[in-house]
Amino acid sequence: MTIDYPYTMRLAVNIDHIATLRNARGEQEPDPVAGALLAEKSGAAGIVCHLREDRRHIKDSDLLRLREAVTTKLDLEMAMTAELQQIALKTRPELITLVPEKREELTTEGGFNITGHYAALAEYLKPFNAEGIEVSLFIEPDKHAIDLSKEAGAQLVELHTGTYALKEHEAERARELHRIREAAIYARSIGLKVVAGHGLNYLNIAPFKGIPEIEEVSIGHAIIARALFTGLEEAVREMLQLIN
Ligand code: PXP
Repeated sequence: MTIDYPYTMRLAVNIDHIATLRNARGEQEPDPVAGALLAEKSGAAGIVCHLREDRRHIKDSDLLRLREAVTTKLDLEMAMTAELQQIALKTRPELITLVPEKREELTTEGGFNITGHYAALAEYLKPFNAEGIEVSLFIEPDKHAIDLSKEAGAQLVELHTGTYALKEHEAERARELHRIREAAIYARSIGLKVVAGHGLNYLNIAPFKGIPEIEEVSIGHAIIARALFTGLEEAVREMLQLIN
């Protein structure tokens, strides 16, 4: 697959933590759907939400309202469960992203273990492929995981950048970035679209401009946190400036 220059890296904004703040008071404000619309207005190419098993942030009713309101692309992050499969097929987001999910974690802790779930995963993805709902798998930047993603029926991979984001030493961070770059190049070469996400922020995003194989970054916490001080429109615009 070739890259068309000049290319633009897209930004998908995860609005889960607007719901986290709302749920802290159990009332209606701030509304994640209003946040999604502002993010789109400011240039986001997609809106991401994670309907977790414990519904700690986004609720089922939010997902329905997001489906109604989002006009760019709705990406539903979800665990590989029968319940979420039903919900996703009914709601019809443009894209689903399968993530591993543990009840006790604060946030997604790593990529999906495809090797351990390959047969079940391939079966799980069939109705999505039949319905034309694109599938992305959140995986470690690893060649074997990329191969299995494609074989199982995914059209995209989202490369986990959390390890990169947590590295404090420059050399280790550069090594991790190299892994991500190599994985992105490989995934593109076998016809997958490539997204990257987790832990990306205003300070660590710059090197991603140099990886054109990554078409999109998926960012939540950093943007919503910054928006508290700058407003969401400004926070989205600043991130777009940094990636392009
Ligand atoms: N991508 C995936 C698959 C995620 O699970 C998350 C966290 O919900 C993100 C991206 C966004 O991560 P962050 O909130 O650290 O930007």
